[in-house]
Amino acid sequence: MTPEEFRQHGHEVVDWIADYWSRLRDDPGSVPVRSQVSPGDVRAALPPAAPEQGEPFSAVLGDLDRVVLPGITHWQHPGFLGYFPANTSGPSVLGDLVSAGLGVQGMSWVTSPAATELEQHVMDWFAELMGLPESFRSTGTGGGVVQDSSSGANLVALLAALHRASKGATLRQGVRPEDHTVYVSAQTHSSMEKAARIAGLGTDAIRVVEVDADLAMSPRALAQRLERDVARGFVPVLVCATVGTTSTTAIDPLAELGAVCQRFGVWLHVDAAYAGVSAVVPELRALQAGVEWADSYTTDAHKWLLTGFDATLFWVADRAALTGALAILPEYLRNAATDTGAVVDYRDWQIELGRRFRALKLWFVVRWYGAEGLREHIRGHVAMAQELAGWARDDDRFDVVAPHPLSLVCLQPRWPAGVDADVATMTLLDRLNDGGEVFLTHTTVGGRAVLRVAIGAPATTRVHVERAWALLCEGHDWLANDFAEQQAEQRARELAERQAAEQRAREQAEQAAVERAAAVEAAAAEAVAAEAVAAEAVAAEAVAVETAAGVDQSTGGDQTGSDQAAGEAVGAEPVATGVAAGTVPDEGDAGGTSPTGFGALDRATADPTGADPTGADDEARAGEPAAPRDPAHEPPADESPTVETPAAWDETAAQATAQADLPPAADRLPD
Ligand SMILES: Cc1ncc(COP(=O)(O)O)c(C=O)c1O
Repeated sequence: MTPEEFRQHGHEVVDWIADYWSRLRDDPGSVPVRSQVSPGDVRAALPPAAPEQGEPFSAVLGDLDRVVLPGITHWQHPGFLGYFPANTSGPSVLGDLVSAGLGVQGMSWVTSPAATELEQHVMDWFAELMGLPESFRSTGTGGGVVQDSSSGANLVALLAALHRASKGATLRQGVRPEDHTVYVSAQTHSSMEKAARIAGLGTDAIRVVEVDADLAMSPRALAQRLERDVARGFVPVLVCATVGTTSTTAIDPLAELGAVCQRFGVWLHVDAAYAGVSAVVPELRALQAGVEWADSYTTDAHKWLLTGFDATLFWVADRAALTGALAILPEYLRNAATDTGAVVDYRDWQIELGRRFRALKLWFVVRWYGAEGLREHIRGHVAMAQELAGWARDDDRFDVVAPHPLSLVCLQPRWPAGVDADVATMTLLDRLNDGGEVFLTHTTVGGRAVLRVAIGAPATTRVHVERAWALLCEGHDWLANDFAEQQAEQRARELAERQAAEQRAREQAEQAAVERAAAVEAAAAEAVAAEAVAAEAVAAEAVAVETAAGVDQSTGGDQTGSDQAAGEAVGAEPVATGVAAGTVPDEGDAGGTSPTGFGALDRATADPTGADPTGADDEARAGEPAAPRDPAHEPPADESPTVETPAAWDETAAQATAQADLPPAADRLPD
């Protein structure tokens, strides 16, 4: 590409960026904040192999719209309220463009003195703008450097702290993971633990210090841990205090922590990745009171200070500890300027050797906006966040769950009893983000899901925050109604199920009653049938007796023997009948014989005297509640037995049947 072609296409690119920003500002609804593509969509839109021949620039620009933009989550969108912001701005992009155009590699002063000295100078400006201690200035014992990220800065700080704690021994002997300890809180950014791993200490070297109710590290707890560790022979290396924790922007109390660190000779590193730049606003500096205790400090201009990624501002109070840990000078890098010791070689202040000219964009930014412009930027967002927190505080649908000194507000939606609050909160979050107008993220506070509203995109104005609040409320109402409807439906379902179960129970009870009644009827019918059979048998016996008597009279034969034989024959029958009758349980029929008078008949027939020679009948009947006999049919004790007529027996049988006292059906039916 010739310079002329560059000019032409450069203008096209600048136009493209300007159009993009205009669209986000003027028509934000036309772009969903969060990319809507699915995994693999972007790659599927790309050719499998790189082009063999160069292509026209218009084809590349066309693909920016066709392939790239759909896969972009728009961090510069005014509705972007997720994570922490990642600002960019016109001057930042142009500064970066110049840096890219210059293409310098500023590893040493000599490789581009302007890259080094502009950086030193800009870092001093920012130290001044933020009210940081004198020791951080290049004119003091320390100095500032632009790092690629706060994660990198945390690692660099740890390496410097290890160098100091080991009195330089780590250079040759490496770290002593079994001795060295690092102090964080549960709210510290994960990059600090990562740094401990990369440094070779490992996670076991990390001590997690307790936090207070506001999620800030407790100085007392830190002191106790340090005391314990020192007493056990550990060598405390670094305490990482955070100004503006990632979850909720909790602020660790630097003044008290600093005093503790000094007492134990531990390096105090302040990770103020997001919140640090707020110190350009004098009235917000109190949040960082005690920063003068810090041995190192990091904050990201690329988060909230109108500068594009990457632009981490990192300072140390004692540059010798930093360069002592990181400086290395191979022959091929030697140069006269370095040898004089009069210059800074920033390669000794970072992990990498090579470095971009990042100070340019910072310089462009601070010159374009001026200190006042930067303050306005920060103040505006803080004011919007405070207003949002006020709306939420006054609304019974939300709780503001943590202090919100800056531009992050953590909201916990309230849900009706019986609703899984975390699921509901995450559902609300998904609904908001799917809607495309805003993008929010979440965290947990006290183990409960919480929505983070991080205000900080340069395009975000009060109107957008109002809209986000309206969407939060609408989404909450919609979900709460939905949950209420679901609960009502659930209650209706449960009621219907209960009613159906009761109906089933009723039907079963009715069915059981019908079956019981049928069983009672069947039993009664059986008893009647048995009585009838018995009566027939008695009648038949009477006829036989009568016949026998007639025969006796006519033949004049031996009555006694025949009578006895007849008596025995007839007497045998009721036993069998009695057994049959006994199929209807009858407590009164203790002997298994029928209570209907068959026993009497037995006796009458078997023993003409009417007496039971064994006494068994009497015994058996002794318990009978009401004798089922009719005294009219009993032979008088002093009379010789009379033989009853069949008509009398019929009557006896009928009475006996009527008197048969059947126990209640329930007593007789099996369960
Ligand atoms: C407190 C804190 N430290 C470190 C980081 C990591 O920042 P960077 O992306 O610059 O590595 C973050 C990121 O949000 C942060 O909040």
